[in-house]
Amino acid sequence: MDATARTALYPGSFDPLTVGHVDVVRRALRLADRVVVAVSYSPTHAKKELFAVEERVEMIRQSFADEARVEVVEFQGLLVELARRVGARVVVRGVRTVADFEYEAQMAAMNRRLAPEVETVFLVPEPEHAFVSATLVRQIAALGGDASPFVPVPVLRALRARFPLVR
Ligand code: PNS
Repeated sequence: MDATARTALYPGSFDPLTVGHVDVVRRALRLADRVVVAVSYSPTHAKKELFAVEERVEMIRQSFADEARVEVVEFQGLLVELARRVGARVVVRGVRTVADFEYEAQMAAMNRRLAPEVETVFLVPEPEHAFVSATLVRQIAALGGDASPFVPVPVLRALRARFPLVR
Protein backbone atom coordinates (compact mmCIF):
# COMPACT_ATOMS: atom_id res chain seq x y z
CA MET A 1 0.00 0.00 0.00
CA ASP A 2 1.63 3.31 -1.04
CA ALA A 3 2.03 6.28 1.27
CA THR A 4 -0.86 8.23 -0.26
CA ALA A 5 -3.34 5.38 0.18
CA ARG A 6 -6.36 6.29 2.24
CA THR A 7 -7.06 4.08 5.22
CA ALA A 8 -10.41 4.08 6.98
CA LEU A 9 -10.63 2.63 10.46
CA TYR A 10 -13.91 0.96 11.41
CA PRO A 11 -13.97 0.19 15.14
CA GLY A 12 -16.60 -1.67 17.13
CA SER A 13 -17.39 -4.61 19.34
CA PHE A 14 -18.78 -6.73 16.48
CA ASP A 15 -20.20 -9.29 18.92
CA PRO A 16 -21.12 -10.60 16.41
CA LEU A 17 -20.69 -9.01 12.97
CA THR A 18 -24.12 -8.32 11.39
CA VAL A 19 -25.32 -7.57 7.86
CA GLY A 20 -25.51 -3.91 8.97
CA HIS A 21 -21.77 -3.92 9.75
CA VAL A 22 -21.03 -5.63 6.41
CA ASP A 23 -23.00 -2.89 4.66
CA VAL A 24 -20.93 -0.20 6.40
CA VAL A 25 -17.63 -1.91 5.43
CA ARG A 26 -18.75 -2.11 1.78
CA ARG A 27 -19.65 1.59 1.80
CA ALA A 28 -16.31 2.49 3.42
CA LEU A 29 -14.48 0.55 0.68
CA ARG A 30 -15.96 2.98 -1.84
CA LEU A 31 -14.37 5.91 0.02
CA ALA A 32 -11.04 4.44 1.11
CA ASP A 33 -8.28 2.28 -0.36
CA ARG A 34 -8.30 -0.04 2.62
CA VAL A 35 -10.56 -0.55 5.59
CA VAL A 36 -9.15 -1.70 8.90
CA VAL A 37 -11.91 -3.32 10.96
CA ALA A 38 -10.86 -3.00 14.60
CA VAL A 39 -12.50 -5.32 17.12
CA SER A 40 -12.46 -3.83 20.59
CA TYR A 41 -12.14 -5.95 23.66
CA SER A 42 -11.72 -5.26 27.29
CA PRO A 43 -10.19 -7.90 29.56
CA THR A 44 -12.45 -6.72 32.39
CA HIS A 45 -15.66 -7.13 30.32
CA ALA A 46 -14.69 -10.46 28.77
CA LYS A 47 -17.43 -12.32 30.65
CA LYS A 48 -20.18 -10.17 29.10
CA GLU A 49 -19.07 -10.97 25.58
CA LEU A 50 -20.69 -13.77 23.57
CA PHE A 51 -17.64 -14.45 21.41
CA ALA A 52 -14.00 -14.11 22.40
CA VAL A 53 -12.18 -11.39 20.50
CA GLU A 54 -10.18 -13.99 18.52
CA GLU A 55 -13.43 -15.64 17.38
CA ARG A 56 -14.91 -12.29 16.35
CA VAL A 57 -11.77 -11.42 14.38
CA GLU A 58 -11.83 -14.81 12.63
CA MET A 59 -15.52 -14.52 11.68
CA ILE A 60 -14.94 -11.06 10.18
CA ARG A 61 -11.88 -12.30 8.25
CA GLN A 62 -13.95 -15.16 6.83
CA SER A 63 -16.80 -12.82 5.95
CA PHE A 64 -14.44 -10.64 3.87
CA ALA A 65 -12.22 -13.42 2.53
CA ASP A 66 -12.89 -12.16 -1.01
CA GLU A 67 -11.88 -8.58 -0.23
CA ALA A 68 -8.10 -8.01 -0.03
CA ARG A 69 -8.62 -4.38 1.01
CA VAL A 70 -10.19 -5.33 4.33
CA GLU A 71 -7.91 -5.99 7.30
CA VAL A 72 -9.10 -7.11 10.71
CA VAL A 73 -7.29 -6.38 13.96
CA GLU A 74 -8.15 -6.54 17.63
CA PHE A 75 -7.56 -3.58 19.88
CA GLN A 76 -7.83 -2.31 23.39
CA GLY A 77 -7.01 1.17 24.60
CA LEU A 78 -7.70 4.45 22.88
CA LEU A 79 -9.12 4.41 19.38
CA VAL A 80 -7.15 7.49 18.31
CA GLU A 81 -3.90 5.75 19.25
CA LEU A 82 -4.85 2.86 17.00
CA ALA A 83 -5.74 5.32 14.22
CA ARG A 84 -2.25 6.76 14.45
CA ARG A 85 -0.66 3.30 14.52
CA VAL A 86 -2.44 2.10 11.37
CA GLY A 87 -2.11 5.46 9.60
CA ALA A 88 -5.84 6.16 9.43
CA ARG A 89 -7.12 9.74 9.28
CA VAL A 90 -10.68 8.61 8.88
CA VAL A 91 -12.76 6.73 11.43
CA VAL A 92 -15.97 5.25 10.09
CA ARG A 93 -19.07 4.54 12.18
CA GLY A 94 -22.50 3.36 11.11
CA VAL A 95 -25.44 5.46 12.29
CA ARG A 96 -28.84 3.81 12.04
CA THR A 97 -31.08 6.05 14.08
CA VAL A 98 -31.28 9.38 15.90
CA ALA A 99 -30.68 7.44 19.11
CA ASP A 100 -27.35 6.19 17.69
CA PHE A 101 -26.41 9.70 16.70
CA GLU A 102 -26.30 11.13 20.20
CA TYR A 103 -23.67 8.70 21.45
CA GLU A 104 -21.78 8.78 18.16
CA ALA A 105 -21.59 12.58 18.06
CA GLN A 106 -20.23 12.59 21.60
CA MET A 107 -17.55 10.04 20.74
CA ALA A 108 -16.63 11.85 17.53
CA ALA A 109 -16.24 15.15 19.38
CA MET A 110 -14.09 13.57 22.08
CA ASN A 111 -11.92 11.76 19.52
CA ARG A 112 -11.47 15.03 17.64
CA ARG A 113 -10.33 16.67 20.87
CA LEU A 114 -7.82 13.86 21.42
CA ALA A 115 -6.62 13.73 17.80
CA PRO A 116 -7.65 16.74 15.64
CA GLU A 117 -6.15 15.15 12.53
CA VAL A 118 -8.57 12.21 12.65
CA GLU A 119 -11.99 12.81 11.08
CA THR A 120 -15.05 10.72 11.96
CA VAL A 121 -17.36 9.89 9.07
CA PHE A 122 -20.87 8.54 9.68
CA LEU A 123 -22.26 6.09 7.18
CA VAL A 124 -25.95 5.24 7.00
CA PRO A 125 -26.70 1.59 6.28
CA GLU A 126 -29.54 0.42 4.05
CA PRO A 127 -32.91 1.10 5.75
CA GLU A 128 -33.65 -2.65 5.73
CA HIS A 129 -30.74 -3.05 8.15
CA ALA A 130 -31.71 -0.15 10.38
CA PHE A 131 -33.26 -2.37 13.04
CA VAL A 132 -30.47 -4.98 13.06
CA SER A 133 -28.13 -4.88 16.03
CA ALA A 134 -25.62 -7.32 17.48
CA THR A 135 -27.52 -7.19 20.78
CA LEU A 136 -30.78 -8.34 19.15
CA VAL A 137 -28.95 -11.00 17.13
CA ARG A 138 -27.49 -12.42 20.35
CA GLN A 139 -31.00 -12.54 21.86
CA ILE A 140 -32.56 -14.20 18.82
CA ALA A 141 -29.81 -16.81 18.76
CA ALA A 142 -30.00 -17.53 22.48
CA LEU A 143 -33.78 -17.97 22.24
CA GLY A 144 -33.70 -20.27 19.22
CA GLY A 145 -34.93 -17.81 16.59
CA ASP A 146 -33.91 -17.52 12.96
CA ALA A 147 -30.78 -15.36 12.88
CA SER A 148 -29.93 -16.15 9.25
CA PRO A 149 -31.26 -12.89 7.67
CA PHE A 150 -29.17 -10.76 9.99
CA VAL A 151 -25.64 -12.19 9.89
CA PRO A 152 -23.14 -13.37 7.27
CA VAL A 153 -22.69 -17.13 6.83
CA PRO A 154 -19.49 -17.51 8.95
CA VAL A 155 -21.29 -15.85 11.88
CA LEU A 156 -24.37 -18.02 11.43
CA ARG A 157 -22.16 -21.11 11.60
CA ALA A 158 -20.58 -19.87 14.83
CA LEU A 159 -23.99 -19.07 16.33
CA ARG A 160 -25.26 -22.55 15.47
CA ALA A 161 -22.20 -24.09 17.10
CA ARG A 162 -22.80 -22.03 20.23
CA PHE A 163 -26.60 -22.38 20.38
CA PRO A 164 -27.84 -25.71 18.98
CA LEU A 165 -31.39 -24.29 18.74
CA VAL A 166 -30.50 -21.56 16.25
CA ARG A 167 -32.12 -21.91 12.85
O1 PNS B 1 -19.65 -1.42 18.66
P1 PNS B 1 -19.53 -0.44 19.79
O2 PNS B 1 -19.57 -1.18 21.10
O3 PNS B 1 -20.54 0.66 19.71
O4 PNS B 1 -18.06 0.23 19.66
C1 PNS B 1 -17.63 1.21 20.56
C2 PNS B 1 -16.13 1.54 20.36
C3 PNS B 1 -15.28 0.31 20.50
C4 PNS B 1 -15.93 2.14 18.98
C5 PNS B 1 -15.73 2.61 21.43
O5 PNS B 1 -16.10 2.15 22.68
C6 PNS B 1 -14.26 2.94 21.41
O6 PNS B 1 -13.79 3.64 20.55
N1 PNS B 1 -13.51 2.41 22.40
C7 PNS B 1 -12.10 2.63 22.52
C8 PNS B 1 -11.76 3.49 23.73
C9 PNS B 1 -11.73 4.94 23.37
O7 PNS B 1 -11.01 5.38 22.50
N2 PNS B 1 -12.55 5.72 24.08
C10 PNS B 1 -12.66 7.13 23.88
C11 PNS B 1 -13.61 7.42 22.75
S1 PNS B 1 -14.35 8.95 23.05
